[in-house]
Amino acid sequence: MSECGPKFKSKRGFIWVATGSAVGLGNLWRFPYLVNQCGGAAFIFVYILCLIVFGIVLAVTDIAIGRKTGKTVIRAFLDISKKYRWVGYISVLIPLIISGYYCVIGGWIFKYLTIYATGSSDILNNDYYESFISCSMDGIFNSPIFWFILFALIATIVMSFNINKGLEKVSMIAMPLLLCILVVIALFVLTIPGIGEGLSYYFIPDINKINAKTFIGAFGQMFYSLSIAMGVLVTFGSYMDKNEDIEKSAFILGGIDCFVSVITGMIIVPLVHIYNETVISGSGLMFYVLPRVFAQMEFGHIIGLLFFLLASIAALTSVFSMVEVGMSIFTEIFGIKREISAFLNLFVIFLIGISPCLGYGPLSFVYFEGSYILEMMDFFANTLLLPFSAIGTCMCVVHALKIENLVKEVKSSGPFRLERIYSPMIKYVAPFFISLIFIFGVIQNFFPSVII
Ligand code: TRP
Repeated sequence: MSECGPKFKSKRGFIWVATGSAVGLGNLWRFPYLVNQCGGAAFIFVYILCLIVFGIVLAVTDIAIGRKTGKTVIRAFLDISKKYRWVGYISVLIPLIISGYYCVIGGWIFKYLTIYATGSSDILNNDYYESFISCSMDGIFNSPIFWFILFALIATIVMSFNINKGLEKVSMIAMPLLLCILVVIALFVLTIPGIGEGLSYYFIPDINKINAKTFIGAFGQMFYSLSIAMGVLVTFGSYMDKNEDIEKSAFILGGIDCFVSVITGMIIVPLVHIYNETVISGSGLMFYVLPRVFAQMEFGHIIGLLFFLLASIAALTSVFSMVEVGMSIFTEIFGIKREISAFLNLFVIFLIGISPCLGYGPLSFVYFEGSYILEMMDFFANTLLLPFSAIGTCMCVVHALKIENLVKEVKSSGPFRLERIYSPMIKYVAPFFISLIFIFGVIQNFFPSVII
């Protein structure tokens, strides 16, 4: 099998690039919401359990497939077996779809960052967020389309450089910076009078709230956050050095991602509680609730600026990974240069992202069961497609690549402590749980009145 593809230069390259992919909007608005809904610290406990039991095993699988084949997603699965090439196609399709609407939200974040940077108080109008996303404000700088394209363009420019100069270098600067900003905000929040009461909302476990939903929520969140079975870790695995310890890398990746989620929740949930707002899910939390909270806080303007800077870094580095996977189709299949495929990919992002971008304004008639186009795309990629690529990856390892070969790849560069549970996990336990989240996800969306 060929190993002629690009490689990370630095020993820490994989960790920072993969963390850049993992830390994103999922950590910033989904995790805090889930903790608040599903039993506080009890949810955090279940999440960490899921991460150790499933997350690491599945992340190791993706990384090892990439490193063993030395190929990016589509070629990797094609190399292993023609019968499983569909897994490669689905794994590529998911980030491609997500990149479209993720750049739309990235654009909103950029807009808010500039508002905080210029000191404008526009966002405090109660209907600012709605008018902005519904494209009903005048002027190009108030158009979500402008910000969407700007965000996607910046990601494309970084990705058009070779991986060492663009992706690796930028991630190695941006991710440590993100962690520093996070710690600074967290330390500041801890000094706010009355924060103790807010923290107790977050950290006190509420065992009564633990039910099937808690586990499904934790499991789904883990998949999304670590970007498992979405082609990302296979691709980055193929850029990894043959001497790099795969299992250790997966643990560090899961650890940093979980740290960011827990600390972000520790900042957001208590703040929202002590300023009498509500922890809601999704974009409303970041673009409506948080600005109102920051406005009531001392130094809230600076904290708002830091928070949207952190969110910009998180979103941008996550999009890098989606773009990398998307680009791999063009570079590998058509054999074109990286720079050209980056801009071809930008065009595809534009085609996919323009309808969710207009989905709250001119296209808001496309609406079903509480979902606009953006939420529908999210549902399609994460609830409907993802389980297929995840189960497909497990089946491919069991039936085509063979478990012993994967284990050999992991052990060639370090210990594999989870080896004993690996086989039953990948054969039965993981596919079973993935099927469950698929079924529950579909029920919840199409039959919301059914209580699980
Ligand atoms: N993990 C990111 C988050 O938590 C999302 C993400 C990054 C992603 N790369 C991806 C999702 C690739 C799908 C495919 O927000």
